[in-house]
Amino acid sequence: MPTKKTAETKETAPLTPEVNEAAPKAAEKTAAEKKPAAKKPAAKKAAPKKDKAAEKVAEAPVQPAEQPVEAPAAPAAPAMPEPRRSVAFIGSECYPFVKTGGLGDVMYALPKALIAQNCDVKVILPRYKCIPQKYQDKMVFRGDFSMDLTADGRRYYVGIMEYVWDGVVYDFIDNEEFFSWGNPYTNLVDDIPKFCYFAKAALAALNYMNWVPDIIHCHDWQAALVPVFQQAMFQGTPVASAKSVLTIHNLRFQGIYNTQTIKYWTNLPDALFDYAVLKQNWVDANMLKAGLSYASMITTVSHTYAAEIQTPFYGEGLDAHLRYHSGKLRGIVNGIDCQQWDTMTDPLLPVNYGITDVVEKKKADKLALQAALGLEQNENKFVIGLISRLTNQKGLDLINAIMPALMDGNTQVVVLGTGDKEYEDAFRYYENAYKGSVCSNIMYDEGRAHQIYAAADALLVPSLFEPCGLTQLIAMRCGTVPIVRETGGLKDTVQPYNEFTNEGNGFTFDRYEAGLLLDACNRAKTVYFTARDRWDQMVVRDMAKDVSWENSAKQYRDLYLELKP
Ligand code: ADP
Ligand code: GLC
Repeated sequence: MPTKKTAETKETAPLTPEVNEAAPKAAEKTAAEKKPAAKKPAAKKAAPKKDKAAEKVAEAPVQPAEQPVEAPAAPAAPAMPEPRRSVAFIGSECYPFVKTGGLGDVMYALPKALIAQNCDVKVILPRYKCIPQKYQDKMVFRGDFSMDLTADGRRYYVGIMEYVWDGVVYDFIDNEEFFSWGNPYTNLVDDIPKFCYFAKAALAALNYMNWVPDIIHCHDWQAALVPVFQQAMFQGTPVASAKSVLTIHNLRFQGIYNTQTIKYWTNLPDALFDYAVLKQNWVDANMLKAGLSYASMITTVSHTYAAEIQTPFYGEGLDAHLRYHSGKLRGIVNGIDCQQWDTMTDPLLPVNYGITDVVEKKKADKLALQAALGLEQNENKFVIGLISRLTNQKGLDLINAIMPALMDGNTQVVVLGTGDKEYEDAFRYYENAYKGSVCSNIMYDEGRAHQIYAAADALLVPSLFEPCGLTQLIAMRCGTVPIVRETGGLKDTVQPYNEFTNEGNGFTFDRYEAGLLLDACNRAKTVYFTARDRWDQMVVRDMAKDVSWENSAKQYRDLYLELKP
């Protein structure tokens, strides 16, 4: 099948010709497939641009001589930790281009936080068709090449479209055959070839751009083959010198498919299809498992989840494999982007508020949401929010079990989510059964999410498992008290309320039992309705809690330095 190209790839100049030499060995096999010479003049066009920029710098006046001696010193830039490290993030989604869950948030916010830690970051993503046109329009063509991929030697087009924003360089891998679907994920029949291609193309693109990072930081199964390709097929090329980190955001998804298909789409040597690397069972291969074997370091998104996944209950069949590799496994808890989630400035909120006026002003957001959603407008109702993918990971079975008991006449529930039909239908049913008290927004809507986080009194996250969870962090940042199950990152980030010392950030329960969730909700209601001053103090404590990326970005940086001292 011929490979497809997009029309706009011809508009701007590719890189200077030398960088082609850095293309991976794998991509050099068929000389006949190399780009025609016609591309080269275009490449030269790019050079003068660079020179102009250089001239501008040379022409710039020498600042110190021109400044009066008594001029006040410019505010000193915050000292950057040395040395500088370069990192390529490789993953399948990234806000605001494409996001289905927390991975998208992390791929956006962590690179920004790493820049503040003196890291040079490139984010490599698929150029899905569903990326909004306003971003597509800003992408600039950086070059293209052809890459061999499959066992029968089929070659595929790899285009690189670049967008630089807020100091982060985003390089989108362009290929219409793989990325022309509406959603990033469709079904494994399509997703397995797509992400085999993406993992290899990302490495080849780094070589092509002649940008060899110290660290290649891969995320979840979609990028898990990167360390495997790197060591099996890119030896002797520049990118081979990078160390790799593989972060598990959700162990449930592993990229498991029949061995023949994965063999075909990767052309990896037979020797790698054994139990230590790719082999899952007699029939299937497992892409995440292979990445875990080959990565220089494995991280996951909380300390508790790092321990949990080494047990059979949470290990999703890989607990023994993870115990074997536990020497290189570490938990680093996620943060959130505190600019994106700032109730003082958020333009999506009807009323802005901060830590000093949260108690009075949050009520106005509650009333506005109640009005917008057709709920009874009453600031004294206890409003519980649920913002979630509607899957069994999120503890929705427990919510189902307690709904009648939860709806006591003083409580309202606002749901925002999409996912499995059974849960979507259940929440539609509750909206109908408890008219005026329950509103189920079965949709994905960023704006509505902001409004619910700000308006609700409490946010429910009773997950069966939760690698980190971002919604409880966002809730706390907005002064909304989380009610969570003590698992994964929920356990690490929400300190249970202690009625004796009046400390803590939220209400928690341990075992996955509906009765315990109901008990946690009732404890929350008791404080809300009978000790409002204590509730308000908790709201303020939650807003004051540090949920930023800064601390965790430092830990990632330390880890990068450990790998590349
Ligand atoms: P997960 O990645 O498992 O879905 P997280 O808690 O890590 O869970 O992240 C979920 C992210 O997706 C949060 O930013 C949350 O606000 C957002 N989100 C989830 N569902 C929706 C929705 N229906 N509309 C808008 N945002 C949503
Ligand atoms: C996954 C997890 C979630 C985590 C997110 C970002 O989707 O389910 O708990 O917060 O990734 O790491």
